Amino acid sequence: MGKSQELYQQAKQLIPGGTQLLSKRSEMFLPDQWPSYYKKAKGVEVWDLDDRHYDDMSIMGVGTCVLGYANDEVNQAVMAAIAEGNMSTLNCYEEIQLAQKLITLHPWAQMVRYAKSGGEACMIAVRIARAFSKKDKVAFCGYHGWGDWYLASNLADDKNLDGQLLPGLEPCGVPAGLAHSAVPFVYGDTEGFQRLIEENKNEIGVVIMEVGRHQKVAVEFLKKVKEITKAIGAVLIFDEVSSGFRVTTGGMHMVYGINPDILVLGKALGNGYPISSVIGIRDVMQAAQRTFISSTYWTERIGFVAALETIKIFERDQVAKKLMETGEYLTQGLLDIFKKYSLKIDMAGLVSVPMMVIRLEKPLVVKTIFTQEMLKEGFLATTTIYVSYAHTMAIIDRYLVVANKVWRRIADALKAGTLEDMLEGPVCHSGFKRLA
Ligand SMILES: Cc1ncc(COP(=O)(O)O)c(C=O)c1O
Repeated sequence: MGKSQELYQQAKQLIPGGTQLLSKRSEMFLPDQWPSYYKKAKGVEVWDLDDRHYDDMSIMGVGTCVLGYANDEVNQAVMAAIAEGNMSTLNCYEEIQLAQKLITLHPWAQMVRYAKSGGEACMIAVRIARAFSKKDKVAFCGYHGWGDWYLASNLADDKNLDGQLLPGLEPCGVPAGLAHSAVPFVYGDTEGFQRLIEENKNEIGVVIMEVGRHQKVAVEFLKKVKEITKAIGAVLIFDEVSSGFRVTTGGMHMVYGINPDILVLGKALGNGYPISSVIGIRDVMQAAQRTFISSTYWTERIGFVAALETIKIFERDQVAKKLMETGEYLTQGLLDIFKKYSLKIDMAGLVSVPMMVIRLEKPLVVKTIFTQEMLKEGFLATTTIYVSYAHTMAIIDRYLVVANKVWRRIADALKAGTLEDMLEGPVCHSGFKRLA
């Protein structure tokens, strides 16, 4: 066990759950072996506490660092802002520049609010939408953070959130009175959505959904959701915290020409510096003035400056196009490997966030062994890859060579019935679980 693994054992005694983010728990990757802590990160390179070096072919700062870690230009802009004072009694002017830029990128919108994280921004969006529609009930699809409004869904049925990215989320601590205030629908299931709306027609004031995540974007479904939402006078929120800046500069809905009333962006917007935004049409956004939404650090300068610089680089270097090209190349490379070794593994996800869907027996065992073997070869790897601008073709090709070797070994072990003998520690978790 190295320093990183030892520190994580201590962390679990000091921090309930070990870390602030479920997706950064080592149990989600490789229990007892994952290098949970880093000393340095640059481009796609990461150094752990034992100075071991890795290339990150996994989730790149949980989808934040779309330009790569510690991007020089973003860092320079941030450092200049720090030198000029990152906080004051007065507001920083960059929040207006960013609002103007976000509205230019999403011309259907007129007003913007900010927060620091995606979950907070979703809470803001839902509050504004409820204030506007004057109806409490929220229909949702996808993952939208840790807020009471979202977890409340599991009060009525503890399986409600299981089909929405993270299974096992417990609504403990969420007021029981919120039961039935948030109801899920399934991505792509138009009839199911229609039924849900029919059953709750007079109560639903908010529809919030991810535009796409695992499956191909269901354009007709999105159009239908928009049409029905409008017909019942509810507010449509697209949560693009994860899909924003993956397919185009800003929200992916722009590619399909289907606009929401409110858009939520986060993660990649600041390339690793905390910033999220709620962008919307004037009428709806003005409802923010009838309720109280206010927080000190939402005014802090760094996030705005980082976002402005990130957008500048996206536009100048056509980053989104590059991400898609890299994602396509990677997907094809992996599909070729799976075909060669007759492995039942499909590729899903957004083109620039390719995801392996393991359809073999004991998929979590397979996933754990893949991560374990890739780690030995110097790669942080899991079944999802957040492609970044810093992933050069040289790195991708090196990854594909090593992945080929590892998947061949896994395929051989599967044939010999010795797969589990390869495990050098416990199997990874797939969702939320209480830690020992
Ligand atoms: C679509 C979506 N919404 C909201 C969130 C929550 O964002 P955060 O973790 O920054 O609070 C996430 C995070 O993964 C997300 O993917």
